[in-house]
Amino acid sequence: MTYRIKTFDDYKKVYKKSVEKPEVFWGQQAATFKWHKKWDKVLEWDFKKPDVKWFKGGKLNITENCLDRHLPKRKNDTAIIWEPNDPSQPFVTYTYQELHDEVCRFANALKANGIKKGDRVCFYMPMVPELSIGVLACARIGAIHSVVFAGFSATALADRIKDATCKMVICSDYNARGAKTIPVKEVVDEALKQNCKSIETVIVHKNTGGKVKMKKGRDKWWSDEVSGKRKTCKPTVMNSEDMLFILYTSGSTGKPKGVVHTCGGYMVYTEFSFKNVFQYDRGDVYWCSADIGWITGHSYIIYGPLLAGATSVMFEGVPTYPDAGRFWHICEKHKVNQFYTAPTAIRALMAKGDDLPNHYDLSALKLLGTVGEPINVEAWNWYYEKVGKKKCPIVDTWWQTETGGMMISGMGGLSPMKPTHAGLPLPGIQPCLVTAEGKEIKGNNKEGLLCIKYPWPSMIRTTYGDHERCRQVYFSAFENMYFTGDGARRDKKGLYRIIGRVDDVINVSGHRMGTAEVENAINEHDNVVESAVVGYPHDIKGQGIYAYVIIQNAVKDVNAFRKEVLKVVTKEIGPIAKPDKIQIVSGLPKTRSGKIMRRILRKIASGDTKNLGDTSTLLNPEIVKEVIKGKA
Ligand code: PRX
Repeated sequence: MTYRIKTFDDYKKVYKKSVEKPEVFWGQQAATFKWHKKWDKVLEWDFKKPDVKWFKGGKLNITENCLDRHLPKRKNDTAIIWEPNDPSQPFVTYTYQELHDEVCRFANALKANGIKKGDRVCFYMPMVPELSIGVLACARIGAIHSVVFAGFSATALADRIKDATCKMVICSDYNARGAKTIPVKEVVDEALKQNCKSIETVIVHKNTGGKVKMKKGRDKWWSDEVSGKRKTCKPTVMNSEDMLFILYTSGSTGKPKGVVHTCGGYMVYTEFSFKNVFQYDRGDVYWCSADIGWITGHSYIIYGPLLAGATSVMFEGVPTYPDAGRFWHICEKHKVNQFYTAPTAIRALMAKGDDLPNHYDLSALKLLGTVGEPINVEAWNWYYEKVGKKKCPIVDTWWQTETGGMMISGMGGLSPMKPTHAGLPLPGIQPCLVTAEGKEIKGNNKEGLLCIKYPWPSMIRTTYGDHERCRQVYFSAFENMYFTGDGARRDKKGLYRIIGRVDDVINVSGHRMGTAEVENAINEHDNVVESAVVGYPHDIKGQGIYAYVIIQNAVKDVNAFRKEVLKVVTKEIGPIAKPDKIQIVSGLPKTRSGKIMRRILRKIASGDTKNLGDTSTLLNPEIVKEVIKGKA
């Protein structure tokens, strides 16, 4: 097990060491895992290319460290407590031994279906234990998993399957979410009609037992495939820098990119950060309410907790089903000690009943966490007072798909806690603020663009199939630095507060979306000539999506047109990308070089029409008035 920080002084000492002697520090942490061969070199790096190698020459299998390593001493400890969507159904638990056996059985099934080291396997599944089992089974045999959030549309799924040329899709029949049942397999069938030539097999897990069509020769049932398979499977020995997984995320431009994480560094960092930020002790019950379709689920539902030998809750449903007390009911039922969720969920539940958490016994809670977007003071206070009863520290964890693990965060209760501030960097993380020109801003009480100036073990290695894009997006803006895309402020004591994205990425209910991606989807509507999408402040979602559209032919029924646009966006991306507001305009404010002035559109969308700044340099300044007048 990696080092466990126990006091604030300890944190300061560890941090100092981690930046003064990073290789010594991370070498010591890595040494606590099982390696088939020790690394030759802890770190080799060049941000220009970028080329970053951690634990070069080391050989390992991450699942041995998640599972087999714990068996001698804790095989009967609970690894997963699965809470189903329907609270009247029994919950299901897996001990470490049982999880090991299921992972091996499914790994053998994957092998029997021709999956080999390096093959890409796509997952499109709800929050069921089989998703964790499947993901780990891939890692067991060196196959690369690409989990696609099951709320994405068939088109979005097809795009991701094609980009990673996946050989197999693993899905469920249906997804039970609240009162709804979503036909997951049907979406997969639809996606596979869209030229996904690389797919040879579809494995379907029976979740609800609803009817599905199975294509002969291609589609197979999970239960048939694991039937009779052995409970042991020799782990495939991987190089530290072999790919572990691909996870797609949105950026300012173009289609979502496949962020690539590798085996060794990701393993070391997710375990270290999990244990220290959440101050996890053996026997604690930890619950992260995220979806495995996002990085939070990868790092802090699957890998981090299992590497640390933790017991974690996995929840199939939604926070408001059967009522808005569900989260607190689960905390009570499973005596949750550490609870990790998103500000958008906190705001939504707060709005449903200020007093609701008081109806449940939340006395087991020791720590609360948030992730995914800035948390506002009201939500922070409510979480602290009503849920944590003023006795649980809140860790506001800032990180990204690309960072693989938490980067700036309180160390559960040890380091200073300040509402809306993520706090101090984790050991090994060297954040800095820079000006737009790339000059580092030293000293406290300063604001700037957030960069990281030294490698950390779980950082992005490349964007799948397009290394140049990785260089361009993250490493070209500022020399020798990783650029996060976020703006931040460092307060008087050096605590970081994340202000939000400074690029054309918006954060809707903690879901990250590129404005260009949503615009491309809207433009698929036959009557849309051009569109511009911006984020605007939204009470529950953090940011809402505001779309300005230029249409070709006038429409009689604007509401019907809006509905059609929503339908197109749902088809192209999924319901999470549906604009909250759509305004038809005759033009968009543009610079003389033809670039849309989003700054102005953002201000109008947020209702701040008085401080639009200089509009005289626009190609079409007259349009601004019209846009303001017609605000949706
Ligand atoms: O803007 C930051 C915001 O979420 C972005 C990363 O999104 P994603 O890759 O989907 O990962 C989310 C889960 C790790 C960041 O660039 N963000 C994330 N955490 C915080 C945050 N903003 C403010 N405070 C946070 N704690």
